[in-house]
Amino acid sequence: MAVHVMDHPLIQHKVSVLRDVKTTSKQFRELVSEIAMLMCYEATRDLPLTDKDVQTPLATAHTKVIAGKKLAFVPILRAGLGMVDGVLTLVPNARVGHIGLYRDPDTLQPVEYYCKLPADIEQREVIVVDPMLATGGSAIDAISQIKKRGPKDIKFMCLIAAPEGVEALTKAHPDVEVYIAALDDCLNDHGYIVPGLGDAGDRIFGTK
Ligand code: PRP
Ligand code: URA
Repeated sequence: MAVHVMDHPLIQHKVSVLRDVKTTSKQFRELVSEIAMLMCYEATRDLPLTDKDVQTPLATAHTKVIAGKKLAFVPILRAGLGMVDGVLTLVPNARVGHIGLYRDPDTLQPVEYYCKLPADIEQREVIVVDPMLATGGSAIDAISQIKKRGPKDIKFMCLIAAPEGVEALTKAHPDVEVYIAALDDCLNDHGYIVPGLGDAGDRIFGTK
């Protein structure tokens, strides 16, 4: 399945500011949300449409509207929460599920602590959001959990990805389309993306 690396100048500019160690938590949160909104525009480009006749003040317009039950967004806690406002700005009626995972700092394996998904998720397309795709373990685990509930389709959207994570994710879930704002060089010995932006959760919530 396809991997889309964003080339829009606005996204590239905002990611550049996001990476800067001097960017404050307030600016960081705003940028994460803005980039998520811009990426969501791309990730929803192929949503199915259906015909609808609308009465204007002058005549009947033959229009298109989004078909069916539409979307659910699933942020991976906690850093994924930073992307929710942005995507809901574009799709305000979407449902939001939550998956709680953290990476064990020693093994780098994801540890699950929460999962609450929309009841009608099998009728929805799901976009999983998390700013960072490093080893890929968190995204792979989250998507496996969501697949058990049988949604119509799953996409994954992140701001920064390492090649190692992209490879692992596309191997584990070849059916999932992946949207990336910036594809970086590699992981360091601690599983951090280089050059990356540091710890996304800490920078969003100011916890370090
Ligand atoms: C970060 C990030 C991803 C994960 C990526 O979360 O938000 O969920 O690491 O790493 P991986 O691809 O190697 O799994 P973290 O575990 O730091 O938790 P947090 O969001 O609660 O800070
Ligand atoms: N999680 C982060 O927040 N940053 C990284 O670089 C890797 C995982």
